[in-house]
Amino acid sequence: MSPEKQLKDQVVIVTGAGSGIGRGIALRFAEEGAAVVVAEVNRSQGEAVAQECEQAGGRALFVRTDVSKAADCRALVQQSVEAFGHVDTLVNNAGVNFVKPTLEMDEADWDRVIDVDLKGTFLCSRYALEAMVPQRAGNIINIASVHTLATLPEAAPYAAAKGGVEMMTKSMAIEFAPHGIRVNAVSPGLTDTQIWADIQEAAADVEAARQHWYDNIPMRRVQSPREVANVVLFLASDAASYITGANIFTDGGMTAQLINQARYASKALEGQIRGDVE
Ligand SMILES: NC(=O)c1ccc[n+]([C@@H]2O[C@H](COP(=O)([O-])OP(=O)(O)OC[C@H]3O[C@@H](n4cnc5c(N)ncnc54)[C@H](O)[C@@H]3O)[C@@H](O)[C@H]2O)c1
Repeated sequence: MSPEKQLKDQVVIVTGAGSGIGRGIALRFAEEGAAVVVAEVNRSQGEAVAQECEQAGGRALFVRTDVSKAADCRALVQQSVEAFGHVDTLVNNAGVNFVKPTLEMDEADWDRVIDVDLKGTFLCSRYALEAMVPQRAGNIINIASVHTLATLPEAAPYAAAKGGVEMMTKSMAIEFAPHGIRVNAVSPGLTDTQIWADIQEAAADVEAARQHWYDNIPMRRVQSPREVANVVLFLASDAASYITGANIFTDGGMTAQLINQARYASKALEGQIRGDVE
């Protein structure tokens, strides 16, 4: 018998659930009837999502949380247990994306990304594990990124943080497997959240910007937060009962390809590179 519970009976903490992927994950669990703890630094966004979760059919609690602060993470787990009795699943989703030329970055830039994306994942996991070990059951799902496999220029702290999240996932997975606790990562590619809105807003030619990104994604589209949430639900469910220490990519094939397919096809037709690369 697997220790996993039906999703409708689970108590799930989702960090950074006030918008984007985190909101999508919180709502998807709520649809299944789970009790959802919306852990978010932005109070108004967090409260709004907690309300949406209740409307979607789940029980919900908003806990104002800055995941980079140990006291907040400890209080988050305590309040979740007080409200719902226990914690089955923690989804470490809170994160800040950050791109800037390395020579223009200062110590504060580095600290902000590492504190939220890497230290926040550690702190929430550490306090959730304290509650999960006596239960002899639990599930941690870390939202990492395609940056765990390949990255971009000017993304040093973000790439370092996400690479760190992947290896922390593996270390905790093997440490806590004997306690009946599974720890996995989900690595999204480009997802339709604020980051995608910002990319389009910053572009001089929006259509050209979209096509540029689609050319780098074999499935030629961005995904919805719900598509990421479905992978998280799978990992939190009994269907994934033997999976731990994994990093599952949901990226439309982005990390599978060696080079931009549209450019490759046009160059190959011109006979310029096929001979070189085949
Ligand atoms: N959107 C993408 O294309 C994409 C791709 C790969 C990975 N990701 C990862 O997915 C996660 C969510 O990204 P998103 O695009 O939904 O971002 P988003 O900015 O829409 O949402 C992030 C949420 O986290 C909250 N947050 C920020 N700092 C926090 C803190 N210190 N404590 C608690 N909450 C905090 C924000 O207020 C916000 O509500 C991040 O970890 C990101 O790195 C996103």
